[in-house]
Amino acid sequence: MRYFLTASCIIISLALAAAAQAQNVGQIPKTVSVNKAKAELGNKLYHDTMLSGDGTVSCATCHALNKGGTDRLPVSKGIRGQKGGVNSPTVFNSEHNFVQFWDGRAKDLKAQALGPVENPIEMGDKWDNVVKKVSANAAYKKSFGDVYGGKITKEAITDAIAEFERTLITPNARFDQFLAGDKKALTPIEQKGWALFQEKGCMTCHSGTYFGGQAFQQVSPEYFKRRGGKITKEDFGRFNVTGKAEDKHKFKVPSLRNVAVTAPYFHDGRVVSLDQAVKLMAKLQLGQDLQPSEQRAIVAFLKTLTGEYQGTPLNQMR
Ligand code: HEC
Ligand code: HEC
Repeated sequence: MRYFLTASCIIISLALAAAAQAQNVGQIPKTVSVNKAKAELGNKLYHDTMLSGDGTVSCATCHALNKGGTDRLPVSKGIRGQKGGVNSPTVFNSEHNFVQFWDGRAKDLKAQALGPVENPIEMGDKWDNVVKKVSANAAYKKSFGDVYGGKITKEAITDAIAEFERTLITPNARFDQFLAGDKKALTPIEQKGWALFQEKGCMTCHSGTYFGGQAFQQVSPEYFKRRGGKITKEDFGRFNVTGKAEDKHKFKVPSLRNVAVTAPYFHDGRVVSLDQAVKLMAKLQLGQDLQPSEQRAIVAFLKTLTGEYQGTPLNQMR
């Protein structure tokens, strides 16, 4: 019996590893090559409240690196405490999204970074004014001289910020250790969760190494019925960009990497816990009621997707 159990455990582990290959799931690479000088400058700009109209808000206000790259609020607060209409997605690994924003309105990080500065309820400034402020700062003047030949423009500023964001990778999650061949990196329950995640069909939408970020998918209209309240403009998702009826309530499928540290969930931030998110997903996106033990196993698996930023696990960052 004991032999049988061990043998079947090994077979399950091997099967799971093979399945990962079949599903195009890989480890998050441990390094990324960037232009260091640009990324360092981008790091300063990312954390600088000078980029907002009243000097109180930086990119990091809503995407704090010690809060999973988010603000952990249902919806973000911009200058003068104004509330936005959607939940702040994580900046970690965001370079790997096929497009940026819930509705995909920016094609890449550089295009994305143009948005918040002039968004009246986020940073509420004007690029001309930000360029003036940055230009008046001696330290920035020197850095932009070194890195961009002295050109301080919105293009250079967003280029530097995007280069910094490319460094925000989170390798070495326990799941990655498992993929690398350490079969003990996941407990039997976590391995069961990984198997269920595949069997139930979660990966038809949360696909690839980042478990999402690769396609738009519709959130079941049933979600909005259950949630109650009025349908907001933001609830229409991709439709706001294309105007096509078939794009109503479609969103970029969020990556599930580090999902355990980025509550609350969904575009509207109305789903408070991972348990609730998983239950809703199975019911509304796949028409299945999970057994409590299945739900627990999937949640346990999702928790193994928390990686490290520069060697520190995201849930231990100060
Ligand atoms: C007031 C809060 C706030 C500030 C300040 C802010 N963001 Fe965001 N960010 C958000 C919200 C909310 C979204 C989602 C908006 C949407 O999808 O419509 C978002 C989306 C993003 C995304 C897309 C991620 C994805 O998965 O689609 C990136 C990248 C990003 N922000 C980076 C930045 C950078 C860089 C700055 C500074 C220039 C910045 N943000 C400033 C709240 C903020
Ligand atoms: C038909 C496509 C589809 C399937 C299948 C699917 N999801 Fe999702 N998932 C989405 C979309 C779209 C969202 C974003 C929902 C929103 O923002 O309103 C999402 C959001 C989530 C979130 C919240 C992430 C966040 O950062 O807000 C979790 C957790 C999640 N899914 C887990 C699962 C699990 C577990 C399964 C399988 C039981 C699953 N999903 C199946 C499309 C899908």
